[in-house]
Amino acid sequence: MEYRTLGRTGLKVSLLGYGTGGARKFGAATGLTASDRLAFVRRALDLGVNFFDTAGGYGDSEEYLGETLAGVQRDSYVLETKWNGGGWLEGGETGVTLTDSVERSLTRMRTDHVDVFMFHMIDEDLYETHRDRFYPEAARLKEQGKIGHIGFTQTIRREPKFEGVIKALTGDPELWDVVMLKYGIMNQWAAKEVLPLAEKHDIGIVNMAVVRTTLSDPVAMRARLDQWRADGTIASDALMGDEPFDWLVEGDVGSVAEAAYRFAAQQEPMSTVLTGTSNIAHLEANVAALERGPLPDPQARKLVELLGGSWSPD
Ligand SMILES: NC(=O)c1ccc[n+]([C@@H]2O[C@H](COP(=O)([O-])OP(=O)(O)OC[C@H]3O[C@@H](n4cnc5c(N)ncnc54)[C@H](OP(=O)(O)O)[C@@H]3O)[C@@H](O)[C@H]2O)c1
Repeated sequence: MEYRTLGRTGLKVSLLGYGTGGARKFGAATGLTASDRLAFVRRALDLGVNFFDTAGGYGDSEEYLGETLAGVQRDSYVLETKWNGGGWLEGGETGVTLTDSVERSLTRMRTDHVDVFMFHMIDEDLYETHRDRFYPEAARLKEQGKIGHIGFTQTIRREPKFEGVIKALTGDPELWDVVMLKYGIMNQWAAKEVLPLAEKHDIGIVNMAVVRTTLSDPVAMRARLDQWRADGTIASDALMGDEPFDWLVEGDVGSVAEAAYRFAAQQEPMSTVLTGTSNIAHLEANVAALERGPLPDPQARKLVELLGGSWSPD
């Protein structure tokens, strides 16, 4: 396993991290039992995964992490959790204040600190509210040692072109140690402005949802490509057919999912790429994929040529 530095936090994180949200929610959606989850996390640790992403709003995922990481030396892994300020303002989702949410996360995860705290989805129009009203509360928790570093996540669905992220990284880069965003085969837009900004300010990048639905569900994938051919995002004859990415599976590339993780990891300044799998065999395959290094040049170059300006809300 390769380890990279999470920007100015200085934390060393595994290139493949484990995300406990997404469609699988740490196996809650696929029927994993407590012993399955324990086996999954122990295998992840054995394979060198040391970065675990969760959120107050990810169902029971924080409790699951608490259970499965119990007894593991606390400084051998990096924990990151989130609070959704927009959801709280609307009276929904988390239903608790930032401070109460962090306290609840600590209890659920059986720890006295999280290494990274993130604002879960900052939209452009709520940016100032987060900065002026909520950030000082997070900074107090940092002073108390309950959180180590402060970041936020992109809102993929509403802001696939990173409006809120760009506002934060241009206006107040010193506030944000880590940003979670989506960069991948079907979402290359971040390479234009956001990733260079992050690199300039030494902000750690956690890359999320690089397979997600568009690369794991052939129907969703073809629908997105149809739309892009129609609106001119890609050439009108590009990526046709039932298996539009089969050319990626060549040489040492075993699957489209593997190509997705390798492509997502090779872009500077990526610190860690999350996988949200609930399947141990897929976890092992994804670790092995990143150990094989960047995608071979011809495939990587062709992806940029075909999809260089791509962005999508899923
Ligand atoms: N704004 C936010 O804060 C936000 C938004 C989205 C995601 N996230 C975080 O990012 C994490 C990662 O996103 P994600 O859950 O969408 O993860 P992902 O790894 O991009 O996609 C997971 C999907 O890919 C499949 N998959 C994974 N490896 C595979 C393989 N080797 N072969 C075939 N299929 C494979 C999984 O199915 P199997 O279970 O069958 O492997 C699952 O359907 C989330 O869990 C969450 O923690 C955060």
